[in-house]
Amino acid sequence: MDLLLDVNIVLDICQPRHPFADSAHLALSKCHREGGRMWLYAGAVQTMLYLLANGLLDDARRAGTALSRAEALGRSRRLLQVFSADKQWLSALAGEGDVFADDDPENEQLVRALDRFKEGGIRLLTRDDRLLGSCTTAISCADYLVLAPRAQSLEFIDLATQQALIRPRLERQVHRVLHHGQYIMGPEVIELESRLAATVGVKHCVTTSSGTDALLIALMALGIKRDDEVITTPFSFFATVEVILLLGAIPVFVDIDPRTYNLDPNKLEAAITPRTRAIVPVSLYGQCADFDPINAIAARYKLPVIEDAAQSFGATYKGRPSCSLTMIACTSFYPAKPLGAYGDGGACFTDDDEIAARLSRLRDHGQSGRYRHTEVGINGRLDTLQAAVLLAKLDIFATEVLARQCAAARYDALIRSLLSNIAPPYLEPWCTSVYAQYTLNVENRAELQNMLQSKGIPTAIHYPTPLHSQSALGLSSAESRSFTHAETAAARVISVPLHPYLEEATQIAIIRAVAAAYAGKR
Ligand SMILES: Cc1ncc(COP(=O)(O)O)c(C=O)c1O
Repeated sequence: MDLLLDVNIVLDICQPRHPFADSAHLALSKCHREGGRMWLYAGAVQTMLYLLANGLLDDARRAGTALSRAEALGRSRRLLQVFSADKQWLSALAGEGDVFADDDPENEQLVRALDRFKEGGIRLLTRDDRLLGSCTTAISCADYLVLAPRAQSLEFIDLATQQALIRPRLERQVHRVLHHGQYIMGPEVIELESRLAATVGVKHCVTTSSGTDALLIALMALGIKRDDEVITTPFSFFATVEVILLLGAIPVFVDIDPRTYNLDPNKLEAAITPRTRAIVPVSLYGQCADFDPINAIAARYKLPVIEDAAQSFGATYKGRPSCSLTMIACTSFYPAKPLGAYGDGGACFTDDDEIAARLSRLRDHGQSGRYRHTEVGINGRLDTLQAAVLLAKLDIFATEVLARQCAAARYDALIRSLLSNIAPPYLEPWCTSVYAQYTLNVENRAELQNMLQSKGIPTAIHYPTPLHSQSALGLSSAESRSFTHAETAAARVISVPLHPYLEEATQIAIIRAVAAAYAGKR
């Protein structure tokens, strides 16, 4: 549980030898121990500074020592600087300034700010009797100290810790958009595109409203139309095949390599026919498909390749970044992705000037100038607000990728030492993965999933049904070819929590729980 610290608590701690300092210190260390965050209200900065300076002046007067007002203010600034260094700042929002009708505008501001939090997620730590009497969220140090800690739920992906880390940056970016008001194709979109292109090392990035739309316009830019065949994997998120079907084209599936879950290049050539127009391998779970042999075959048949890199932005293949390996690559900024927005978003990458220009037109209703529609496109632009969020997240992305890889390495080691029946995910020696998912291949998956759930460990299945068996494709089992490895994977894969802020102790508990689930079965 988080704590919003009222000014009186801040003063208790910052003012040396304050009579209430001990209980305030104990409350803050309890919050820290229990993994809560402590917030200071930005609207109260001035009050904190002046009341602290007054307190220091009173102390000096009582002690008979000389202290000027300027010295007291200087000392207060330094004390508050140290105190606030590990705290979160809760910004004062416009509506919270409108409190002058209230008898106590400062308290009313705090109470309004609390409304932003999930119910039960925060308490206002205070020793103000009025607040303690009127605000159900307010709590005194004494009561907080005896409050039973709330059971912490384990998240599959911990976006809250990431947000706490970049909150000032995020707020700055988002507020900038609110002020300039260019909500469509604002400067953040342009900046993001140039930073993403530079990160990947390609000439062009064209952002889109989702990963799905990125794939759709990539196929449109290549002129894919009704009855064209597009080769792809049967083991992916539905969007990969959905966009092919939306254009009236025919998906032709090539089974996966059972170790990497990615399209098996050895089976690719047999699927090519005179009607094949494109190949869409997916870099699943964060590891790139084997693009050298795929590109070599594609080149022989003069076929374009589109990397569905929705899960692999940040990964590398033979030292080259995902999204730089094919004629066009498409990624997703869905919130749970390694680089995730606070809503939908996506991007296409290409080195080809003409394709880039076409992608730009297609994501904007096929416009080549204002209200000049030279082809039929879609409304597929990324919102400026999402671009602003992504810019804040991009600043820490490289560090987060390393943290994901470290967490995966810890899982690998734990699995090798604690599990005899399950292997860590296979990583090709020439690949680095961004571990969009950390996915195990197990027997008795449903039992394992139930057992983990009963211990509060969330899991996910990516994906329980292979694409060729989805009813939307309308293929009867007689019509549909069988893709043995995709079908086996769909029945056996299970992903466990992985994110940059996952702690080793949690990982040990998770792998021990997996071991316990199989303990009676050996
Ligand atoms: C492999 C794959 N392709 C495409 C998509 C579609 O991306 P979006 O959800 O951003 O539309 C996803 C998203 O989950 C995905 O995992």
